[in-house]
Amino acid sequence: MRKSVKIRVPGTSANCGPGFDCLGVSCTIYNDLELTLLREPGLDIQVEGEGAEDIPTDERNLVWRSIQFLLGRLKASEDYKGAVIRMKNNVPLSRGLGSSAAAIVAALKAANVILGNPLDRRGLLQVATDLEGHPDNVAPAIYGGFTVSLVHDGVPESFSFLPKAPLELVVAVPNFHLSTKAARNALPSEVPLKDAVFNVGRAALLVGALAKGNMNFLRYAFDDTLHQPYRAKLIPGMYEVFDAARKAGAIGAAMSGAGPCIIAYVTDHAAAVGDAMIEAFRGHGVEARALTLGIDQRGAHIVKE
Ligand code: HSE
Repeated sequence: MRKSVKIRVPGTSANCGPGFDCLGVSCTIYNDLELTLLREPGLDIQVEGEGAEDIPTDERNLVWRSIQFLLGRLKASEDYKGAVIRMKNNVPLSRGLGSSAAAIVAALKAANVILGNPLDRRGLLQVATDLEGHPDNVAPAIYGGFTVSLVHDGVPESFSFLPKAPLELVVAVPNFHLSTKAARNALPSEVPLKDAVFNVGRAALLVGALAKGNMNFLRYAFDDTLHQPYRAKLIPGMYEVFDAARKAGAIGAAMSGAGPCIIAYVTDHAAAVGDAMIEAFRGHGVEARALTLGIDQRGAHIVKE
């Protein structure tokens, strides 16, 4: 008998300003993956929605590659040689909202369910981090909420919590792609100690203030000196978009992951903040749209088995 499962997985925003490769937040924007694993070889992949025209539907497909990776880890590659994959995507592709993490996590979760759940969420985090290279998008995609992650001796650890602050996320999505690889290539291998100190204080303050719901401190807490200054040249008008968001009422703003999306953290004025960010991008010749999202509380979950 063929076994199928449908998984819903959230988009995610990594770094959250100062938490480069460590902090992430799960957003209320979702991709759906319906997977059937086949005993016989063969791939039938269909993609609808965001990025459908750019996502390969052959052996190169990231969902399929992630499934194969998991099957290899679980010594089950001989049991399943093909798949029927149906993807319905809402998360913009290559924009800093965790589209690759969503594909990886949905694939691993779906295959894991079909195999009888040999891995718990921590096991999925390990495999997903090995595939993605860093845990800050895959962790919130698995757990939901706001996540703090690290890798110790090759083993990722992550905890998730729901901020006490009533935060909404306004994401300006520009109409160009930026690959994580290109954005990581822009980074130096070393940073000045004063920049590290700047970020340690802000990352700690951000987590503490969100956990306690202390809004007064948050306005300092989304700034960064470790990655954004080096990546600014890849996103026209980035700092002006941050300023426009703050002037329109945002608590803070940052690159979403490796960009090019910019995320503003707000408690109100979401529409005005979105409009201001679009306008600021336009001043630099970039067309953008704005999404107002909440914080997803569940992470990847089964919607049909
Ligand atoms: N922490 C990662 C980066 C997120 O900023 O490069 C993007 O995958």
